[in-house]
Amino acid sequence: MTYLKQSLKLFKKPVLIEKVSSTQDVVKAADFPHFVPLVAKTQTKGRGRKGNRWFSPPGKGLYLSVKLPREMFKEIPNLGTISLVTGYAVSEAVDSYIVSQIKWPNDVYINGKKVSGILIEASSRNLVIGIGVNLNTLDFPEQLKNYASSIYRETGTEVDFNEFTYLLLEKLENNLLRFKESGFSQYLEPINRKLLWKGKRITIDNRECGILLCVDAEGYAVIKNCYGKIKRYPYGDISIRKWKNED
Ligand code: BTN
Repeated sequence: MTYLKQSLKLFKKPVLIEKVSSTQDVVKAADFPHFVPLVAKTQTKGRGRKGNRWFSPPGKGLYLSVKLPREMFKEIPNLGTISLVTGYAVSEAVDSYIVSQIKWPNDVYINGKKVSGILIEASSRNLVIGIGVNLNTLDFPEQLKNYASSIYRETGTEVDFNEFTYLLLEKLENNLLRFKESGFSQYLEPINRKLLWKGKRITIDNRECGILLCVDAEGYAVIKNCYGKIKRYPYGDISIRKWKNED
C-alpha cells in the first residue's frame, strides 16, 4: 500500500492500493475510518448500481470509495440529492479534460458515452460514496462497447492517474462542503445546464417514452410522457435511455 501526497480540506490522506475486491466493500467495513479515500488501481469485484458489475481493468481507471458520517449532513432535508451533487463534482473534474454531461441521476458522459458511474450506499450512520472513472481504457467488453468510453478515447490524450485523482478529490470535497453549508438548490441551475438529453425524447425503463424536461429541487427527474402528462421520478426508481432515433 502506498500513499498519494495530498493536502485536502475535508478528506484525509488517501490510501492507494494496487488490487482490491471492491473499494466499496473495504471502506464499508466498520473499522475503516471516515474521510479516508481508498483508491485502487484495479478491482476484482467492482460493483455498480442495480447489481451490475463495474468493469475495473488494471491501471486504466480510477476506483475510489470514501465513507462520510451521515451526521455531517443533518441539516439537509433530502439527502438523496448528494448523489446528484457527487455526479456534478465528477463532471467538473472531467471538464478539465473535455466537456462532459450528467445523465440523471449521476452518470458522467462524454460525447454520449458513459465514462463514470457512482454508487452511494447508506446505513443508519454512514454514507459510502463509490466512484469509478474510465480514464485510459481503450478496449471494453462487447456488451459495453457501444455505451462506454474513457477520457483517453474521447480526447486522444492519456490521463495522468495521480493528477486526475487529486483533481477529483478536490472537486468532490469542495462540492460536499458547499452542499453541507447551503443545500441542493444552488445546484439546480448548473446540473440542469449539464443535463444529458434535456428536452429530448427518452425511454423510461425501456417501456414508456417521454421528454426529459429537467431535474427539480428535490433531485427528481421531471418527464412529460407521450400522452402529455408530466410526472416526477425519484432517484433510483427508474432508469432512462436515449430514444433510439434521437441524436
Ligand atoms: C454504476 O454506474 O453502476 C456505479 C458504478 C460505481 C463503481 C465504483 S468503482 C469504486 C467503487 N467500488 C465499487 O465496487 N463500485 C464503486
